[in-house]
Amino acid sequence: MKAARADKRIAVDERLIVALDVESAEKAGETVKELEGLITAFKVGLQLYTAAGPDLVRELVEAGKKVFLDLKFHDIPNTVARAAVEAAKCGVWMFNVHASGGREMMKRTVGDVTEFCLSNGADRPHIIAVTVLTSFNDADADETGVRGNVSGQVERLARLASSCGLDGVVASAVELEMIRSAVSDPHFRIVTPGIRFKDETNDDQKRVMTPGAALAAGSDHLVIGRPILGAADKRAAAAKIVDELKRHL
Ligand code: C5P
Repeated sequence: MKAARADKRIAVDERLIVALDVESAEKAGETVKELEGLITAFKVGLQLYTAAGPDLVRELVEAGKKVFLDLKFHDIPNTVARAAVEAAKCGVWMFNVHASGGREMMKRTVGDVTEFCLSNGADRPHIIAVTVLTSFNDADADETGVRGNVSGQVERLARLASSCGLDGVVASAVELEMIRSAVSDPHFRIVTPGIRFKDETNDDQKRVMTPGAALAAGSDHLVIGRPILGAADKRAAAAKIVDELKRHL
């Protein structure tokens, strides 16, 4: 296997992001507690945010956690930029927008969030673009009117996001090499969900890779949900992944 590209500017504890895909603040709190001292970065997505809202995000931030707010904003430029500034006010470490929301939406978001953070002395969150959902294959993409295949669309959207000043993209590990050659910025962050060990079910993910292989192929951050949340011993499952990551860094 190839050596990891391993951007040294990214701390080891930012590499594994555990997706808190649970139904309540209470359940999220239990998971965070179970992973205390092992995991620092957590993803709050649509389910948990809809159930528990920004209070939970602020609590996690105050507890020293790095929060990836995965709400995949996709709306007109003004609406997305305003929502993004609210995310920055909550102190999130990373959030995302759909690259298919277009150039104006992404540029306006980067501009407004940067301005807010500069005038408030806050760290600017990493702004990441969703390219094509990892639950999509070519047939799904075709059905929604995407020209060509998934990989071409991922490349097109990654280039667009980079040219709008975004910090990186969410993409399948299968597309890592192609994105690295399409985007010249060596620090462009690639966040990869769809991570599975070989002996596991893929659930609804159709473009998957193992943790070590994803890192070796150039992933910066792995987002992992069900392989940890669904394990009888969540801490042991997360520790197994952390060990595999450390071996590849
Ligand atoms: O449970 P699993 O490991 O498949 O979780 C992956 C997480 O990453 C989910 O929270 C999902 O919403 C998210 N995600 C994804 N594909 C994307 C962007 C985010 O699977 N393109």
